[in-house]
Order: sequence, then C-alpha cells, then structure tokens
Amino acid sequence: MPIVWREEMSVGVKVIDADHRHLVDIINQLEIVIQKTETTRGEREDGLRILFGRLRAYTREHFSREEGMQSTSHYKGLRENQDHHKRLIADLEDLSQRFMEGEKAAQPVGNEDMLKFLRHWLVDHIIKVDLKMRGHPIRAHYW
Ligand SMILES: [Fe+2]
Repeated sequence: MPIVWREEMSVGVKVIDADHRHLVDIINQLEIVIQKTETTRGEREDGLRILFGRLRAYTREHFSREEGMQSTSHYKGLRENQDHHKRLIADLEDLSQRFMEGEKAAQPVGNEDMLKFLRHWLVDHIIKVDLKMRGHPIRAHYW
C-alpha cells in the first residue's frame, strides 16, 4: 500500500514538507519495484539500484537542509535531530545494502521486511520527530 500524504504530516514549513513529500514519492516508487514480479531480474536490480541511490542521496540533502534551517532558527531540538539523522542514515545504508545483496547477505532482508522498514523509517521516525517543529518559527532556506 502506497503512503498517502496527509495534512497531519505537515510540519508547517513549506520547504520541509516538500522534501518529505518527495521522500514519500521515492518510497512509493520503491514499493512498486519491490512488489513487481513480472520484471526480469536485471530490470528489477537496475530499478532498485537507481531508487535506493536516489533515496540515499535525497535523504542526506534533506537532512542537511533541515539541520541548517534549524540551526539558523536556533531550534532547541537541533542536537537531538542530528543524532537521530545519523542513525536513520546508518539504518538505511545497512538495510538497503543487505536487501540488494539478496540471499548472499549475512542477514538477508526479504521484500516485506524491506517495505515495513521503509514505511516505519519515514513515517514513524522522520515525520513524527519532525512534527515537534510545528509551531516553532523555522526560517526557510532555499538551496
Ligand atoms: Fe525531515
């Protein structure tokens, strides 16, 4: 089931909401590729490689943008958020790598586990933690 953006997910800062929506889109595209059974092995691997690459890159870009905005806005949750971001990046790297290795991985990750991880990773961690920003005056940076 794709993640559907809901207004409750809005942190009230346009740039951050736009980033989160973009992350939702990438994860929804990953879900399609992971669940598609009628593609060839090569097509599936290419799709996964491209989308995981996009997710990893955009996550780093988003986290640094968000931390930069929090820093210039003297947001008191910055330090906690930075620690959290480090863990989220490490988890994503670990899970996506093991998933791509398939059965060859020391601890393989199956389709359902990967999908569950991605939804939880984004919705429960990123969006719920970021919701603490709601109501704080966060200045937007566009870079
Ligand atoms: Fe965020």
